[in-house]
This record gives sequence, C-alpha cells and structure tokens, in this order.
Amino acid sequence: MKIAVLPGDGIGQEVTREAVRVLDALGLPGLSLEYADVGATAWRAHGHPLPPATLEIARASDAILFGAVGDFDCDHLERHLRPEQAILGLRSELTLFANLRPAKTFDGLEAMSALKPEIARQIDMLIVRELNGDVYFGDKAIDTLPDGRRRGWDMMSYTEDEVRRIAHVGFRAAQGRNGRLCSVDKANVLETSQLWRDVVIEVAAEYPDVALEHMYVDNAAMQLVKDPGRFDVIVTGNLFGDILSDQASMCVGSIGLLASAALGDRQTDYGTFGLYEPIHGSAPDIAGQGKANPTATILSAAMLLRHSLGLERQAARIEAAVARILAEGVLGWDLGGTAATAQIGDAVIARL
Ligand code: NAD
Ligand code: IPM
Ligand code: MN
Repeated sequence: MKIAVLPGDGIGQEVTREAVRVLDALGLPGLSLEYADVGATAWRAHGHPLPPATLEIARASDAILFGAVGDFDCDHLERHLRPEQAILGLRSELTLFANLRPAKTFDGLEAMSALKPEIARQIDMLIVRELNGDVYFGDKAIDTLPDGRRRGWDMMSYTEDEVRRIAHVGFRAAQGRNGRLCSVDKANVLETSQLWRDVVIEVAAEYPDVALEHMYVDNAAMQLVKDPGRFDVIVTGNLFGDILSDQASMCVGSIGLLASAALGDRQTDYGTFGLYEPIHGSAPDIAGQGKANPTATILSAAMLLRHSLGLERQAARIEAAVARILAEGVLGWDLGGTAATAQIGDAVIARL
C-alpha cells in the first residue's frame, strides 16, 4: 500500500507531520510512504509547483496525503508557476473530480461554532463538490480592450457529462445517508447553472428513493447559517463548493476540523484512488508557530484509509480518537484552547 505524502507549504508541513505520526502509530503492515515536494516549496527547489517527478510519485501511489500549498511571496509569479497550480494540477491530471467534504458538529464543541449552539448541534452534512471543471479550468486572461481599458475574464462552463458524473456521486452519497440531496446552483442567472440543473433533474430519474431539491447559492449560503441541520448531501460546482465548504467549517467550529477526499473512477488493489487533504490552506499567518490544528489532516488520513485502502476499522479508530480528544477538551488555538499542533497529534495517538 503506497501513500504519496505531499506536505506542501506553510502549515501544510506541520499538519501533515501529525497525520503521518498517527498513521505510523497504527502500525499497518505493508504501508509505505513516499514524500515529494509541491507548491512554493517545489517551485523553490525545482522551479515548478508540481514537478513531473512529484506527479509521477502521486500517480504511482494508491492514495495521496496532501497538506496545503500557497505562499504570498509567490503571488506575483505567472499563474502557471503559482503554488495553487499544484493542487489544481493534481486534481485535473489525475481526474479526481469528486470532492467529498463532510461537516459534522463534534459532541462538546457546540459552543465553538460561529452559530448558536442549538443550531450548530444539528449539523451533519456532506458537501459533494465538483473538482475538475467550472470557472477554475476555463480560459482566462487579463487583456486590454481597444480603448485601452484592462479587462479580466474567466470562462465558466460545464459539459453535461461532467455534471452527470458528479450528480451520480451526490445521489449515491444521499442513498448511503439520509436520502436527501440539495443541488446548489445559480440557474436564475447563469447558463452553466441552467445546464447543471437540467442534467441533475435527468439523473434524478435513476434515484427515485432520493428526495432532490434545488437551491440558489445565495440562499444556500443563508440557509447554511440559519438552519444548517436541513442539509444532508449538497452537490454543487467547483466554485460554489469551495466557498460553501469554508463557510460550513465555521458552522462546525473551525476550518482546522474539516477533512476532504478527492476521488475519481480509478480503482486500486485496495479501494478507490484518491487525494486527501484538509479543506484549509497554508495559513501563512500562523505558520511556524505550532498553532495549526492538525485535526482536519488527521481526519483526511482516516478518509484515505477508508476510501483508498479499504481499512474501515482503522479509519473509525482514528475518528473515534479525534472525537474523544475534542470531547475531553484538548483544543487548539483555533478553538479557544492552547494545545499546540504536536500536542494534538500526541493526544490522538494516545487515545487510539
Ligand atoms: P487558509 O485556509 O490558509 O487560512 C484562513 C484562516 O484560517 C487563517 O486565519 C488561518 O490561520 C486559519 N487556519 C487555516 N487552517 C488552520 C488550521 N489548521 N488551524 C488553525 N487555523 C487555521 O486560507 P487563506 O489565508 O485564504 O490562504 C492562504 C494560502 O493558502 C493562499 O496562498 C491560498 O491560495 C492557499 N490555499 C490553499 C489551499 C490548498 O492547498 N488546498 C486551500 C485554501 C487556501
Ligand atoms: C481548496 C482551495 C483551492 C481551491 C485553491 C488553493 C486552489 O481553496 O482546496 O479549497 O480553490 O480549490
Ligand atoms: Mn478553499
């Protein structure tokens, strides 16, 4: 079982270290880890945020554990050299189109939510975010109009097959949960969204057991803070899913808690090939201070064991240990506590 470990930049290094320690503590026979550079770290060492050698290590693995990329010092670089291109490149090159971002309130953490505790307590949702299309991967440019004004533009598009395959993921996820799927779009304004909605409705015919609703993204952002307990599975495009999942993290309590899996169709000997990462970024504002919460990455490692390596029991062990330390009040800086990054890792390992 080969895991490619790509820590990346900033707190990506710090949180990945803890997730790897947790994996090591499980003592899984036959597990091998191979490290590679991504992001600004890779650009500095090799001149590119996603060097060919890194992509090959990722491709040859059964699963990828990814930290975070991003470095404000690189924001002046041409776009194809910026750190963020590493994660975008991995998602598209490896056809990891389905991003699962679960958000569930932990027992005992209700008071840390940005919402009222009685509202926060209800949260148990899965955001299924499309990851290979949308305005992220269309043509884009800053050009100059004939009259001399500069113009920035990005092409937003989805093909019907792209919508269909993520819709199936959303419906199947709803079948495995509480049978409710909310498709989020902006079909009142965008043609991309109109096609999205049309195709989701077509796919719904194959899932009569799932209750489908459609919601505009502005209303979804509102409902997410008003009544997040109404959501079971949300399926949405790349851009809306990015934004709503950060918002969902604060409904739960911290962005340092939310894990994710990026999956495609490829099967390995053990499960589905995938990339696993916290939903947060490199957090330059706290990098190097021991203040990063590694929980999201530790929970991403649990998702890795479940989806890519078929190790459900080990995944559940990690999740139970995380739930326990949170219930016991081992809290990082993001949750009003003082536990340092490595102390949170230690606590999880101790409860395994
Ligand atoms: P961010 O997610 O890095 O940070 C947002 C805020 O949340 C910051 O105040 C940060 O300190 C806090 N935070 C994030 N993770 C935390 C954790 N584990 N524990 C405690 N606090 C945490 O978003 P940003 O500041 O907008 O972006 C910083 C850089 O990261 C940018 O270069 C951006 O492009 C990049 N980024 C990368 C990814 C990724 O690699 N998948 C995701 C998001 C942002
Ligand atoms: C995320 C990040 C990325 C995204 C950036 C870093 C490209 O915000 O993984 O949520 O927008 O997908
Ligand atoms: Mn994001």
